[in-house]
Amino acid sequence: MEQFVIEGNRNLSGTVNISGAKNAILPVMAACLLAPGKSVLRNVPILNDLKAMAHLLRVIGARIDYGKGSMSIDSKDVCYSEAPYELVSKMRASIYVLGPLLARLGEARVSFPGGCAIGTRPVDLHLKAMEALGAEITIEHGYINAKAKQLVGADIYFEKSSVGATINAMMAAVLAKGQTRMFNAAMEPEVDSTIDLLNKMGAKISGKASTTLTIDGVEELFPVEMTMIPDRIEAGTFLIAGALSTSPITVANCEPGHLGLLIDKLREAGCILDVGESSITITPPTKIKPVNLITLPYPGFPTDLQAQFSVLMTLAEGISYIEDTIFPDRFMHVAELNRLQANIRMDRNVSTIKGVEELSGAEVMATDLRASAALVLAGMVAKGTTTVSRIYHIDRGYDHIENKLNALGANITRMDL
Ligand code: UD1
Repeated sequence: MEQFVIEGNRNLSGTVNISGAKNAILPVMAACLLAPGKSVLRNVPILNDLKAMAHLLRVIGARIDYGKGSMSIDSKDVCYSEAPYELVSKMRASIYVLGPLLARLGEARVSFPGGCAIGTRPVDLHLKAMEALGAEITIEHGYINAKAKQLVGADIYFEKSSVGATINAMMAAVLAKGQTRMFNAAMEPEVDSTIDLLNKMGAKISGKASTTLTIDGVEELFPVEMTMIPDRIEAGTFLIAGALSTSPITVANCEPGHLGLLIDKLREAGCILDVGESSITITPPTKIKPVNLITLPYPGFPTDLQAQFSVLMTLAEGISYIEDTIFPDRFMHVAELNRLQANIRMDRNVSTIKGVEELSGAEVMATDLRASAALVLAGMVAKGTTTVSRIYHIDRGYDHIENKLNALGANITRMDL
C-alpha cells in the first residue's frame, strides 16, 4: 500500500494548473449512455474514480478509449442493465447509471450503495424521483430494480437539495414523454455542466443555475464532444495550500466564478486574492485570522472543502467554528489533525478550532478523499516529517497531487510499503 512521506515546508511559489472536474465528468460519462454512438470528453484527468466509472460502463456494454487528456465513450452497443455490487461498493457515483439505463433500456438493476466514511448517504431522493417519472422500484437482495416501459414527465419536489438526485432524475427525464418540472433542484456547477452536455445532445432543459428545472422530453439524443469544466474542489484545495504558504502562488485554468464563497472566506482570513478571468493569485497573510463557516448547497461553502479549510484554521490566531450541514459526520480528519497537535474539539457537526503556533509532523491515516487532501496540506505545514497512509483515497479525485505540490516547492514522496 502506498503512502506519502511529507517534509514540512511552507515555502510554496509558482503556478499550478487545475484539471477537469471529477464530479462533473462522472455524471457526464453516465449521460453518454443516453446517446447511442461515440461521444468525446476533453480535459479529462487520470483519476481512479473515473477509471471505476469507465469499468462500469464497459460492463454495461459501452466502449471506452483514452486519448491525450480525453476520453471517448461509444454507447452504441449498450445492452446490459446491471451495475454489480463489486463496482458500486467501490464508488457511490455508480448510482448515476440508474437514470440513463432506465431511460434507454427500460430497466436497471443497480446495487444499493452502502455507507461510506463520510456518513450513511441514502439514495431515497433518487428513487422517489424515478418513481415520480413512472418507474416501478423494488429493492431485493441489496439491489435496486427499476422498470418502466416509458417514463412519463412529472413534477418532482426534492425534499433536500441533492446533486446526485437532481442529475439522475434529469438524465431519466430527458427521454420521458412530456414535461418534467423539478423544484428545489441542486444548482452546483456540476449540475449545470450536465445540463450543457444533455442540451448539446438534443435535450430540452431550461432553468440552468436555478432551483427550478423544466425538461421537455425528446425522442432521442445524439453523441457530442465536450470540454469539461475545471475542478473547483481541486482549485480550492490549492488556494488553501497558497493561504498556508509563505509566498504567493497562482492557481491557473480554474473558474473563479465557481469559487465565490471560498474567495470571500480566504479574504476574511487575511489573504489577498487577485482574481483573473481563469486564474487566481493568492498572497498569504503573515497572521491567519480565524473564520467561522457553515457548509451549504451551492453557492454556499462546499462540504468538499471543509476539511482543507479546517487545516488553515488550525494555525489561525484565535478560535473558529466550522459546521457541516451536508454531511454531519464528515469530521474523520479531526482526530488525525489533533495527532499533528492541532487543537480541535467536536460537538456533533460543529468543530471548534483553537489556533496553535505550529503543527508537528506525525503518522496519520487518510479516511476519505477530501480528508486525505487536508492531511497532505497539514503535513506540508507541520514541523518535521508527516506520513500519510491509505493515500489510495486521494488518487480517487486528485490528479497526481504530490507532483503538482512538489512543482510549487513542497517535499512529498510517494512510497510503496
Ligand atoms: C456530491 C459529490 C460530493 C459532494 C456532495 C455535496 C459527486 C460524485 N459527489 O455527492 O463530492 O460532497 O455532492 O456537495 O458529485 N441525500 C439524501 N437522499 C438522497 C441523496 C442525498 O438524503 O437520495 C442527502 C445526503 O445524505 C446529503 C445531502 O442530501 O446530506 C446532499 O447530498 P448530495 O448532494 O446528493 O451528494 P452526492 O450527489 O452524493
